[in-house]
Amino acid sequence: MIVTGLSLQTLAILVGSVSALRAFKLFLDFRRLLASIHHLPGYRTVLSSSTVLGNLFPPIPLFTLGHDHSWLSKHAPFAERGLDVVSAAAYWPKAMGSLFIADVNVIKDIVWSRGGRFPKPLGQYTILTFFGENIVASEGNEWKRYRKIVAPAFSERNNRLVWDATIQIMLDLFDTMWAGQEEVVVNHSVDLTLPIALFVIGAAGFGRPISWKEDAVVPLGHQLTFKDALHTVTQDLTLKFLVPRWAMGLTKRLRRARLAFDELHQYLKEMIHERQESQQEDNHDLLSSLLSANDDENLSKGEVKLSNSELIGNIFIFLVAGHETTAHTFSFAFALLALHPDKQEEMYQHIKRVLPDGRIPTYDDMQSLAYSSAVFNEALRMFPPVCTVPKTSAEDTTFTLTDVNGTMKTVVVPKGLGLTLDIVGLHYNPKYWEDPFTFKPERFLGDWNRDAFLPFSGGYRGCVGRKFSETEGAAVLTLLISRYTISIKDEPQFVGETYEQRKARVLDAQSILTLAPTRLPLVFTRRT
Ligand code: HEM
Ligand SMILES: *[C@@H]1O[C@H](CO)[C@@H](O)[C@H](O)[C@H]1NC(C)=O
Ligand SMILES: *[C@@H]1O[C@H](CO)[C@@H](O)[C@H](O)[C@H]1NC(C)=O
Repeated sequence: MIVTGLSLQTLAILVGSVSALRAFKLFLDFRRLLASIHHLPGYRTVLSSSTVLGNLFPPIPLFTLGHDHSWLSKHAPFAERGLDVVSAAAYWPKAMGSLFIADVNVIKDIVWSRGGRFPKPLGQYTILTFFGENIVASEGNEWKRYRKIVAPAFSERNNRLVWDATIQIMLDLFDTMWAGQEEVVVNHSVDLTLPIALFVIGAAGFGRPISWKEDAVVPLGHQLTFKDALHTVTQDLTLKFLVPRWAMGLTKRLRRARLAFDELHQYLKEMIHERQESQQEDNHDLLSSLLSANDDENLSKGEVKLSNSELIGNIFIFLVAGHETTAHTFSFAFALLALHPDKQEEMYQHIKRVLPDGRIPTYDDMQSLAYSSAVFNEALRMFPPVCTVPKTSAEDTTFTLTDVNGTMKTVVVPKGLGLTLDIVGLHYNPKYWEDPFTFKPERFLGDWNRDAFLPFSGGYRGCVGRKFSETEGAAVLTLLISRYTISIKDEPQFVGETYEQRKARVLDAQSILTLAPTRLPLVFTRRT
């Protein structure tokens, strides 16, 4: 017994000293990191929030910034330090540093740089490659190849298709699901907006129109609807990433996630087969661009065929990228209009001036429906679905910018440092936006600082679906406001609250994959 006790003690001392040595090394690395950024003021935490683990936590001072850091703090961290670049340094799992950036010129430098100076940190994107390599989670020549394949599907001709598909989907909603109802109650706005956005990308991107009625039915050979499979998958991406395959059968939640992944894979394969069988020659949508790149016969000399897994990976990423982001923007736009009835009325009057006879607007009316686009933009400014865009520095470099007192400052950037384009910080930066916390769609009617508006990121890696979603946005908002008024649902448990409390409650948001409203109950009342 004594012998075992002693050896255990020795072991404990050994483990203890190894840990202490390791902690000391981390500490030295951390010190070196701080020196390499010339002690630029900012956050010092134990755990890095650019790791999957760090992203699971809420903010805990000194321990981790938490997953919602940029969303929760808006521009305050920059204002506090008088500079629109703030550093973050963490000890663990290794000394890691990054810069949060809310300065227009520095961001412009980064997104428009050539030659791979500021690539995406692909390690942070592996979670998105579950179904295959794709345009979002790639860099360099691989990315160029994908972008070239899909670009033709985002032409002006396709925008028209997006507009028409959106109108069709909204009319189908009014004429079937909402028919005969003076008041439609939606307990959580995303129950309405996620299907809208999914149906639009399905129809305009994949030639797969879904009607509201048939959407509720599980097709033969499936256990989930396409919509449910896709929603569960997007919600459970992190789960799937962290939990090993053999453990996916352990709980009900995990089994449902596993089923959704399998079902979605099945749906995507069916979608491909159906299109391959149908021989639709005149179709120029996204799916046909991807399929044609997957077919040897269509390849020009020197082109590399899109493999089956790249095909599925890209279809998946387009469904994800084109769906939640737009849907959440609609939800926030509806909430803002409900909270600001005067702006809602102004929007209605604007629409009536453009369409005095109440006809259905066409794509050519979009330019004139400027107030609808302004509301969409203002929702994107205040609630950017993608709160931060990560990059890295591939070389030792510097950024120069002016601080709050107008003094030129130089920020030193060592090779390998993480860079975070802080979209929320930028969108609430009073240097670019007057009264940034106030909902003012009019700011997008006149002249506005285009470089300070980055919900779609920017430069070469900017969103390829930007015009797609702007078109969809203008069509949805116009059609809805021309026929309905939007208000917040009254609920007995909230009768005593003030306007400010109500606003804070319904606009509460959380950034998981994209920024989403926590709980947003709405009422749509038909205009008479
Ligand atoms: C309000 C709606 C949308 C927002 C806020 C949004 C935002 C973004 C952002 C911030 C990026 C850069 C991501 C990064 O750097 O990792 C991006 C890229 C991308 N988005 Fe969107 N997006 C929206 C709608 C769409 C739609 C409708 C589609 C497709 C139909 C789409 C497809 C893509 C693709 C494929 C990329 C990758 C582009 C590339 O790397 O070349 N997005 N989007
Ligand atoms: C700006 O000037 C004020 C007043 O002189 C000073 O207190 C503050 O520290 C300066 N800010 C920065 C970031 O240098
Ligand atoms: C919305 O919530 C109310 C009250 O909680 C409930 O009675 C109603 O069935 C819900 N509606 C839907 C469509 O889920």
